[in-house]
Amino acid sequence: MAWGRGGADVWTWDRTASFKAAGAHGSSEFAPRTLRSTFAAPARKLAALMATKMRAPKSATPISVVTGGAGFLGSHLVDLLLARGHRVIALDNLVTGSTDNIAHLAGNRRFRFIHQDVTEFIFLDEPVDFVWHFASPASPIDYLQLPIQTLKVGSLGTHKALGLAKAKGARFLIASTSEIYGDPLVHPQREDYWGNVNTIGPRGCYDEAKRFAEAMTMAYHTYHGVETRIVRIFNTYGPRMRLNDGRVVPAFVSQALTNKPLTVFGDGSQTRSFCYCSDLIEGIYRLMMSGHSLPVNIGNPTEMTVLEFAEHIIRATKSRSRVVFKPLPQDDPKQRKPDITKARALLKWEPRVPLAAGLVDTIAYFKPRV
Ligand SMILES: NC(=O)c1ccc[n+]([C@@H]2O[C@H](COP(=O)([O-])OP(=O)(O)OC[C@H]3O[C@@H](n4cnc5c(N)ncnc54)[C@H](O)[C@@H]3O)[C@@H](O)[C@H]2O)c1
Repeated sequence: MAWGRGGADVWTWDRTASFKAAGAHGSSEFAPRTLRSTFAAPARKLAALMATKMRAPKSATPISVVTGGAGFLGSHLVDLLLARGHRVIALDNLVTGSTDNIAHLAGNRRFRFIHQDVTEFIFLDEPVDFVWHFASPASPIDYLQLPIQTLKVGSLGTHKALGLAKAKGARFLIASTSEIYGDPLVHPQREDYWGNVNTIGPRGCYDEAKRFAEAMTMAYHTYHGVETRIVRIFNTYGPRMRLNDGRVVPAFVSQALTNKPLTVFGDGSQTRSFCYCSDLIEGIYRLMMSGHSLPVNIGNPTEMTVLEFAEHIIRATKSRSRVVFKPLPQDDPKQRKPDITKARALLKWEPRVPLAAGLVDTIAYFKPRV
């Protein structure tokens, strides 16, 4: 059986063949596992890897485990996987997520929610094909309040999720971040840039947790032969973000909808780029289904200053708000823009949703909640 492309952007389960390439994604799609890493593995591991046959599908319906599945991005991923025929098990301890994000799935026989801290051992008495490791506090407010939980889920949680993938012979994807580039000295950021991170600064708990998570993922790939994927996610926005999570999109939208001043840190000349959630999740899905085990940036390369973005939100909400300036937080990155050359070439992916369109849905989501 294999995945095959069943139409525009739809992957279907093909019962007639093994994993095989299909559609626009090129011949590496579902290719047999080979040594794709640039890292050397110990000789016995190398032999084991080379002897590995194509991973046999475990059931007629692919089974995905999504850690952090009740969060903003995790819940959108769950929706996409269900729409593409997966059975989905979401694991979440709800530390920053909410069952509201998955309430619409109640009664769906292909969906199961397990309330679990993934830093603890993960036991599932069934086959698993894909592990998508999204659990982690993600907004600066959250990880400043939860620095130890953030470090634990990036380290112990990643270890447990990789252990699950290894035990089940599943493919694993880590939701990494542009924060691993820190306050970047290279612009735009390419995947081969190693970053500029302050390990002991306020953001260190998040940045270093994710850097560790990438290193652990690579070690499981090279040493244990687990099929792994690393996505470096840049700023993403959309419905299901928490109003008070401190990220710039909900902060500006809620301030604008209530005609309060929009708080811009510094002089607002620092740049950001914003990717709509559906674009991001599509890119991540394609990466998981690709044959590429090295990191790939997924984000929107349209860059603007934070001040321009504030003015955009004021216009989009028809708000009477004005802008106020506050001191720049420590280690706030001055510029952020993904180089998505790799995603374009490997995944035939690029963002499609313009900011104006993404904001319409996002503002509509926040309006009844402010
Ligand atoms: N949203 C973005 O712009 C962005 C950017 C870069 C990276 N990411 C990454 O994407 C992932 C999801 O981010 P998000 O924006 O959806 O954040 P989120 O806070 O909405 O979701 C994270 C989820 O993980 C859960 N979680 C945290 N620790 C856990 C633990 N120990 N055990 C089980 N569940 C746990 C939370 O309860 C929450 O539901 C994170 O790993 C984040 O680092 C997001």
